[in-house]
Amino acid sequence: MKESQNNQMRNVLVVGGAGYIGSHVSKALALKGLKPIVVDNFYSGHRDFVKWGPLIEVDIKEREKLAAALRGVEFDAVIHLAAHIEVGESVQNPEKYFLNNVGGTENLLSVLEELGRNVPFVFSSTAAVYGQPEVDLISESAPLKPINPYGESKMQAESRIRAWSERVRAPVCLLRYFNVAGADPECEIGEAHDPETHLIPRLLMSLLKPSTDFKVFGEDYPTPDGTCIRDYVHVWDLAQAHLAALHYLKTHPGPHVFNVGYSKGFSVKEIIQAAEKVCGLRVPYTKAERRAGDPAILVADGSRALRELGWHPEFAGRLDQIIAHAWAWHKSN
Ligand code: UFG
Repeated sequence: MKESQNNQMRNVLVVGGAGYIGSHVSKALALKGLKPIVVDNFYSGHRDFVKWGPLIEVDIKEREKLAAALRGVEFDAVIHLAAHIEVGESVQNPEKYFLNNVGGTENLLSVLEELGRNVPFVFSSTAAVYGQPEVDLISESAPLKPINPYGESKMQAESRIRAWSERVRAPVCLLRYFNVAGADPECEIGEAHDPETHLIPRLLMSLLKPSTDFKVFGEDYPTPDGTCIRDYVHVWDLAQAHLAALHYLKTHPGPHVFNVGYSKGFSVKEIIQAAEKVCGLRVPYTKAERRAGDPAILVADGSRALRELGWHPEFAGRLDQIIAHAWAWHKSN
């Protein structure tokens, strides 16, 4: 996106902008001359990740407080990333996921409608909406059959957003992320969940703090080495996909759906081997039972985003870079 193309879009509300992905999106927006206005409740976000624009501290579960906080704020687009994201936790506590991911989204949409802000809207969705399709590469037309409450909550949020888009005629892009990993190549921000449950950060943390127990969940999946296969996308490339989506919505109102993935999967054991190479260390792990809610294989057919959205990922095929950036971030934090 060139500066001249940003004329009509200046302020972007980044809901969940203090989180792992939201902060990278905020930085990417700022580097393009746009102003990210972060909305966050700091449930899982970090105050020191809000570096590129103003902050509105509010919880999207509290509709009236949200309406009051957004009244009078000038923004030309919304990127909504505020959500609980842990598959395993969603199986233990589904209510928490529906309340926040569906209820919070409904509140945000109804506040936008009340304020008459039918602006372009980009939503952080997930590959988890597909469940476990019986195909090698999952395209956007695959049926939505989530197998865990997290995926179900995101599917329901998608459907609320589509209905809102049709009702108020707002342009919408639903971005279905595959497995987001890595960190800001300049190492200003990175992944910092508490507790951390994701594969790459857990593995790296176990190298830095040998007391961190690193387990491989399930070696009996129907995959070549028995461990789960995922499509790992660099968080900086993902942030760029949001910019591409905002630009696309200027001329293509939608609603649209795009997978964000590299169309290439790696097993848990392949990730371990790649990390051993990048870090120059052996990764000790213990074998554990399958984790509830985990599908065996999730790999994107990411061709639509490349073809139509004009997304130009920099790190496709660079698993070593994804791990190296995550490693640099974890070592410095
Ligand atoms: N895994 C381990 N050990 C760990 C952590 C993970 O073996 O300590 C395994 C998991 O069982 C899974 C794979 O590594 O097979 C990836 O697990 P993650 O927890 O890193 O990621 P998920 O696939 O569970 O979920 C992530 C995001 C979701 C998103 C999904 C899309 O958390 O928000 O990717 O594919 F929906």
